[in-house]
Amino acid sequence: NGLNALAKTQGKLYFGSATDNPELTNTAYTAILDNNMMFGQITPGNSMKWDATEPEPGTFTFSGGDQIADLAKTNGQLLRGHNTVWYSQLPSWVTSTSWNATGLTAAIQRHVSTVVGHYKGQSLSSSYSWDVVNEPFNDDGTFRSDVFYDTLGESYISIALIAARAADPNAKLYINDYNIEGTGAKSTAMQNLVTSLKSQGVPIDGVGIESHLIVGEVPTTMQENLEAITALGVEVAITELDIRMTLPETAALLDQQKTDYQTVISACMAVEKCVGMTVWDYTDLYSWVPSTFSGQGAACPWDENLDRKPAYDGIVAGL
Ligand code: XIL
Repeated sequence: NGLNALAKTQGKLYFGSATDNPELTNTAYTAILDNNMMFGQITPGNSMKWDATEPEPGTFTFSGGDQIADLAKTNGQLLRGHNTVWYSQLPSWVTSTSWNATGLTAAIQRHVSTVVGHYKGQSLSSSYSWDVVNEPFNDDGTFRSDVFYDTLGESYISIALIAARAADPNAKLYINDYNIEGTGAKSTAMQNLVTSLKSQGVPIDGVGIESHLIVGEVPTTMQENLEAITALGVEVAITELDIRMTLPETAALLDQQKTDYQTVISACMAVEKCVGMTVWDYTDLYSWVPSTFSGQGAACPWDENLDRKPAYDGIVAGL
């Protein structure tokens, strides 16, 4: 018994967790991570990003990513590749070059095809996926200004997707973003992008719904929103779920967090083409939240001692 076993019984592909290479020396942590009844899928938190995989132009390093891919294979878990094109965690040679369109197109194509090609067939199943483009939108639904958009406009997205499809025709290709959990301008922009890509014949298989949420503030329109996205002919997945609170934690906050986890999981379970759910690490011990959102934390379903929190029971109730 475990979260992945329950999710699969209910018709989903997986329940998974993010992880990161430095965490893998903690044997109490890996004992839970490696159990494929609990987690049927893992995502590398950092080690497949551009700065980690192509630190110098044309020089690729896969040691960190391979450790996670090998772990997934050993454990009988699916792999979500994360990610190939993102404004953040770029090596300085990408951000500091004054690109023209031809040069940056070639750099994107080389990066995406080499990284996605390297991991082709390394997963146990063809149903693994890649976050090919990560976080392309501002919260108001306009495209984010970054080296890619500023040089190529929105064409960088199709350049990356086409290169990924050619490198691994079996991988599900996703665009992943946050603040698209409920209906609103940003989700509408994502839907418009999917429609536009499909009308041009650009490969797009899924939309990743990150779901970095706040206790007491889970959007009420989540199920409706997921239905609207899947109605466009793509799958969705909850890709980076955590639900943070302002510290210190209290029994009341932990109880609201349990309800909130159940709400999110229930929304995915109710939507046929929501294929799986991933927490952005399962334990508060390794959550990215405290170092990113000052004064906030306790966002995960296991606490810092690797004990299950009420949120765990909320997930079970939602599955
Ligand atoms: C985070 C990692 O968890 C941190 O370790 C790192 O310092 C910054 O990135 N959205 C994403 C993820 O798509 O890649 C981010 O991961 C969290 C927000």
